[in-house]
Amino acid sequence: MSDSATGKSAALTFDLKARCSTSKARASTLHLPHGPVELPIFMPVATQASLKGLTPDQLEETSCRLCLNNTYHLGLKPGQAVLDAIGGAHKLQGWHHNILTDSGGFQMVSLLKLAKITEEGVRFLSPHDGSPMLLTPEHSISLQNSIGSDIIMQLDDVIQTTSPDAARMREAMYRSIRWLDRCIAAHKNPTTQNLFCIIQGGLDLDMRRECSVEMAKRNTPGIAIGGLSGGEAKSDFCKVVDTCTSLLPPLKPRYVMGIGYPEDIVVAVALGADMFDCVWPTRTARFGNAITRYGVLNLKHQRYSEDFGPVDEDCSCTVCRPKDDNAGLAISRAYIHHLAAKETVGAHLLTMHNVHWMLSLMRRARQAIVEDRYPDFAKKFFEDYFGDKG
Ligand code: GUN
Ligand code: ZN
Repeated sequence: MSDSATGKSAALTFDLKARCSTSKARASTLHLPHGPVELPIFMPVATQASLKGLTPDQLEETSCRLCLNNTYHLGLKPGQAVLDAIGGAHKLQGWHHNILTDSGGFQMVSLLKLAKITEEGVRFLSPHDGSPMLLTPEHSISLQNSIGSDIIMQLDDVIQTTSPDAARMREAMYRSIRWLDRCIAAHKNPTTQNLFCIIQGGLDLDMRRECSVEMAKRNTPGIAIGGLSGGEAKSDFCKVVDTCTSLLPPLKPRYVMGIGYPEDIVVAVALGADMFDCVWPTRTARFGNAITRYGVLNLKHQRYSEDFGPVDEDCSCTVCRPKDDNAGLAISRAYIHHLAAKETVGAHLLTMHNVHWMLSLMRRARQAIVEDRYPDFAKKFFEDYFGDKG
């Protein structure tokens, strides 16, 4: 797995299994240091080395084998010294499967109004004590090396896609390329941790083309498309993903960052993307929302107070499936409705269901690609999810 451009190696193999004959959808297996994962994949977000409300065992039970942690949050707390002492984030959270870490800059810019970007890195004030801090490409990679995540992300300069400032967008795109070069040079563990580049360039397709070509030249083990979770029009989102995937090497994983809604994932898969992450399924669970084949249901609504059916009849998660030894007693919508008022267990149960549901959607999508019926799968998904429920 030698990498000719950098003289370094990758810690993954990408095994393409099937291609759709009418769209750009692909099914593959990605072999990572902590086991294989099947693509296309949805990766739930465990920002603080925990998926809010779930134990690592419960996360494993959802069938998740690759989740996200955040460099910025783990770098602040527990901090690099503790991560080094314990031997990384897998050990910290007792998680035997794969972890992907985002580089941290995006979170700072989106969370902290006071973040300022210079060529050196991202300057911000510590949310703990207000002291000035600087996250450079080198520091982000050093933190991710201490975290020991299976996939690490370059530090990038992210601008809202809807920003009208084309000059600033261009600067961010070129700076992201320069920062990738600094990340590659700083990466200490290329044989055990896979560094992914991130394509920027907003909604300008020429900029995206130029960035895709430059990033691909750096020959990282995987490639991300960034800057797309900012409320752009769906047609713009599709054009950007389509433009980038058309220029990327076919035998590398492609990750669209911060995407999220089932409908966006189903479309992006058809455009040749393989990996997705979003806080939405877990965040919306905490608002009482259950994702189902027929759309999102808010179980806090009074209409569910006497609905004794499972959260989703089609779902095989531990919440929806009657336990064999439980005399057919499953958890009902009415129970979650009752809990949602004040008990946190309601949110935990819905988190488990929503994560399992997203992973199951991806498995069904993959199966459809393998059987070369992805367009039918996508059509049926949209009919069910947005259709008239009668
Ligand atoms: N998460 C969602 N979008 C992005 C992006 O463009 N860059 C990074 N680093 N993280 C993201
Ligand atoms: Zn379920």
